[in-house]
Amino acid sequence: MFTLGILHSTIREEEKFILAAARKKGIKTQFIDIREEVFNPNTYQPNFNLALERSVSTVKGLYATKFLESLGITVINSSKVASICEDKFLTSLVLQKTQVPTPQFALVFGIEQAKQACEQLGGFPVVLKPNLGSWGRLLAKVNDTDSVESIIEHKDVLGSPYQKAIYIQKYINKPGRDIRAFVIDNEVVCAIYRNSSHWITNTARGGVATNCPLTSELRSISKKASKAVGGGILAIDIFETENGLSINEINHTMEFKNSEAPTGASISGAIVDYCIKKYQKL
Ligand SMILES: Nc1ncnc2c1ncn2[C@@H]1O[C@H](COP(=O)(O)OP(=O)(O)O)[C@@H](O)[C@H]1O
Ligand SMILES: [Mg+2]
Repeated sequence: MFTLGILHSTIREEEKFILAAARKKGIKTQFIDIREEVFNPNTYQPNFNLALERSVSTVKGLYATKFLESLGITVINSSKVASICEDKFLTSLVLQKTQVPTPQFALVFGIEQAKQACEQLGGFPVVLKPNLGSWGRLLAKVNDTDSVESIIEHKDVLGSPYQKAIYIQKYINKPGRDIRAFVIDNEVVCAIYRNSSHWITNTARGGVATNCPLTSELRSISKKASKAVGGGILAIDIFETENGLSINEINHTMEFKNSEAPTGASISGAIVDYCIKKYQKL
């Protein structure tokens, strides 16, 4: 009988939803707290057939994924998808290469280069982001050169090696919201608007989720973006611009506890269905 392994650290509402959905569908689950595992290929005995990666830490989650894949176990999302989506620069590069609309961006390692990049992107404001990050943390909307200098100096002196790679993106003047589309197997399950009076609209930062109707444009761009990074279970952040929809970033271990109620969709049910489908294809 099929057992779904759920890789996790802290168990959030989302993991409880997934467990409830699996029970409803008669699927056996095995919760694997990655903090308690010893990933030794000589001793590891998996007691599940396929794994769903739901760890809070993307770094630890990716190591666990790569370990299990090395043993021949299918993990959702794959390390290939996770490696692109965890990194905003790599995601932007893939979107650009596959001609999926995305805001202009650049990567720099120094202050002078940052100033040049700001000009190339059409001037201020721009947004500086950590390549690896979530929940809207450490994002800076920058309005002038003085601020660019100061932020980069702080990152250079105080930051970790990864923070010294500076991702700069054109600022998009949003209508008080952005869109998050939940995309599974390259199809949109549902989408929310994240409404906020702040320019950072993450629900983790107080953004309020309301249902976003699924237009053909939304379905089409979401499908393209999902395919571009390799598919799987994804949450795609989208801006409404005067030239149509534009993909901001793609998340590969999304949170969705605030999104089932406003959309009426069972994201957790769709996640479990996708795992079952993948298992049947093994
Ligand atoms: N270039 C931008 N222009 C306008 N708003 C932005 C831009 N980049 C990010 N934001 C806002 O900040 C939020 C978080 O940014 P995002 O790139 O998704 O990082 P995180 O991984 O922290 O969610 C977005 O949902 C959006 O509301
Ligand atoms: Mg985001």
